[in-house]
Amino acid sequence: MLHKKVKNKFTKRGVDYPIIDGLRTLPGRYYHSRKIYDEEIEKIFCKFWIYALRAEEIPSVGDYKLVQIEDEHLIIVRNEQNEINAFFNLCRHRGTQLCTEEKGTFSKKTIQCPYHAWTYGLDGKLLAAPLMKEGNGFLKSECRLHQAHVNNWEGFIFISLAHNPEPFEIQMEALIGKFSDWNMASLRIAHHIRYELKCNWKLILQNYQECYHCPGVHPLLSQWTPVQSAQHDYSKGAVIGGFMDLVNERGSMTMDGKAAAPPVCNVSGEDLQRIYYYSLFPNMLLTPHPDFVLFHHIQPLGPGKIINDCYWLFHPDVIENKNAKNGIKSAVQFWDLTNQQDWQVCEQMQIGTKSKRFTRGYYSGREDVLYSLDQELLKALGHTESDLED
Ligand code: FES
Ligand SMILES: [Fe+2]
Repeated sequence: MLHKKVKNKFTKRGVDYPIIDGLRTLPGRYYHSRKIYDEEIEKIFCKFWIYALRAEEIPSVGDYKLVQIEDEHLIIVRNEQNEINAFFNLCRHRGTQLCTEEKGTFSKKTIQCPYHAWTYGLDGKLLAAPLMKEGNGFLKSECRLHQAHVNNWEGFIFISLAHNPEPFEIQMEALIGKFSDWNMASLRIAHHIRYELKCNWKLILQNYQECYHCPGVHPLLSQWTPVQSAQHDYSKGAVIGGFMDLVNERGSMTMDGKAAAPPVCNVSGEDLQRIYYYSLFPNMLLTPHPDFVLFHHIQPLGPGKIINDCYWLFHPDVIENKNAKNGIKSAVQFWDLTNQQDWQVCEQMQIGTKSKRFTRGYYSGREDVLYSLDQELLKALGHTESDLED
């Protein structure tokens, strides 16, 4: 009943936004238990569409990058038709891991197992199994590399390890057609920072979706985008989104609050005065600015450990323009500072919630979208209210 009330709260500016204080948070074990974490890997990370890499990271035929989700290792590779495939990184002969270098190029346009030299095409087809004859149940055509599903949205490559995943357009419904003015496929990575953090992956999503913490934690961010301007404008499927208003005309999130670059592609109108915050459950945070796009890629490495890769995307003309260097630098500095402020409180929350004295907390009305996020998680895990008792 309570949840129903909360679900209807995503209203546009001006329409009343019910503030409900006191919804309960998850119990501490959801951030610390190995059992719950394993369940999340199986029922969420190995089932949902998850972000894997930017298409621009493997620009040429044969280029590949490895992606790991706990026990599942994948090779994401560009094939001879210029399509991107995701193969499970294991040989069909006796299961050996095929490739160990994190990134590279299959220059012979084949993938060869280091053990007995079974060789596969970039389309996953077994081309050669030395000295082996077909027969007795062995057919080369039945020994293709196992494959995961791939979807390219605006240059962001998503994969799903499920046999029959829900269509990407359903899981990510709120994204379809949104942000097309940015033409994100045409943007390029101008900067990347890898953060290794001691906290649960969900704390990063929670932190991203509320600005209750902004006045205290982010004094500079609060200057450029006042906390009162934060609002949620979309929640459908696994996507929750919102935006904040920029105080400075043609401003942006940089050290001096000024734009780092001209508006991206066709961005215009009210989008010139907004920073969007969209979390793509479970492992990506997308933050389109008028002049660049910031995004985070979260990889869980256990209940209390993650890698969080942060990328700054700019238009290639800006990246190539020497005069734009300072603008990019300022955007990087601003977000690196803001990120570190966030990571600090997330890591402290990880420590605090491990105490036996921690009992379920209370969300403020400004955090009730976090309650929706928790519901999404519980639905995916098949857990009910009774699983949440302290
Ligand atoms: S395990 Fe790969 S060729 Fe033998
Ligand atoms: Fe923050």
